[in-house]
Amino acid sequence: MSSLLCSSIGKKLLMGLSGLFLMMFLLIHLTVNSLLLIPDGGDTFNAAAHFMATNPFIAVVEPLLAIGFIVHIVWGILLTLQNRKARGSARYASGNKTKGVTWASQNMLILGITLFAFLVLHVAHFWVKMKLTGDPLLNDVTVNIAGVPTEVENAYALINATFAELWVVIVYVVAGIGLALHLSHGFWSSFQTIGFSNDIWRKRLTILGNVYAWFVGIGFSLIALLQYLFFQG
Ligand code: HEM
Repeated sequence: MSSLLCSSIGKKLLMGLSGLFLMMFLLIHLTVNSLLLIPDGGDTFNAAAHFMATNPFIAVVEPLLAIGFIVHIVWGILLTLQNRKARGSARYASGNKTKGVTWASQNMLILGITLFAFLVLHVAHFWVKMKLTGDPLLNDVTVNIAGVPTEVENAYALINATFAELWVVIVYVVAGIGLALHLSHGFWSSFQTIGFSNDIWRKRLTILGNVYAWFVGIGFSLIALLQYLFFQG
C-alpha cells in the first residue's frame, strides 16, 4: 500500500483525490463567504458562521481538510521534482512547446506555492484569531436564528475590518486570480487522474473546469473588493 502511494501513479492519484476534495471545500467556502455581501450588518453571515462552527459534521471535516491540504502540497512538490528529474534537460530545450499545453499547466508548482503563501496569511488573519488567540472585534452579537435570539461571535466585524486595508484586498484579488489559474488546470487534471476522462469528456471537463475555476477565483476576489469599496464605515 505504502509503495503504491509513493509510486508516481499513486502520488498522482492522491493529488487528484485531494484536489477534488479541496475543490468541494472551496465551493462551500465561497457560498458561505458570499453572505458577506448581504447588506444587513453581517447578521446572516454571522448566523451561517455560527452554524458552521457548531456543526458536528464540520468538526469532523476540518481535520480532514488540513490533511487534504498537506497531502496535496507535499505530494505536489514531490511529483513535480520527480517529473523534472525524469525529463532532465529536455524541459529546457527550445522549440518543444506542445500545442494545447496552457501556461497554468506548466506553472502549477509556482501557482501552488503562491497560494500556499496566501493561505499562511489567510489563516493568520482569520482562523488563528477565531480559534486560538481571539480578537476584540469578535465580541458576541445577538442574531435571530430560526426566530430565536442567539449570541454568536462577530466574525463579520473581523473580516470587514481586515478588508478595510487596501494591501490586504490587493493580496486577495491576486490570490483569487492565481487560484483561478491553478484550478483551471487542476479541475480536469483531477478527473483525468481518477480515470474519468476521454476525448469527448476532456473537452467538456476543460470547459467546465474553466467555468468553475474563474467563478471561484473571481468570486473570492470580488468579495474582498466589494467589502473594501461598499461595506466600510
Ligand atoms: C473573500 C475571501 C475569503 C474570505 C472572506 C475567507 C474567510 C475565512 C474565514 C472567516 C475563515 C475562518 C473560519 C473558521 O475558523 O471558522 C477561513 C478559513 C479558511 N479559509 Fe478562507 N476565506 C476567503 C478565501 C479563501 C481562499 C481563496 C482559500 C483557499 C485558497 C481559503 C481557504 C481557507 C482555509 C483552508 C481555511 C481554514 C479551514 C477552515 O477554518 O474552514 N479561503 N476563511
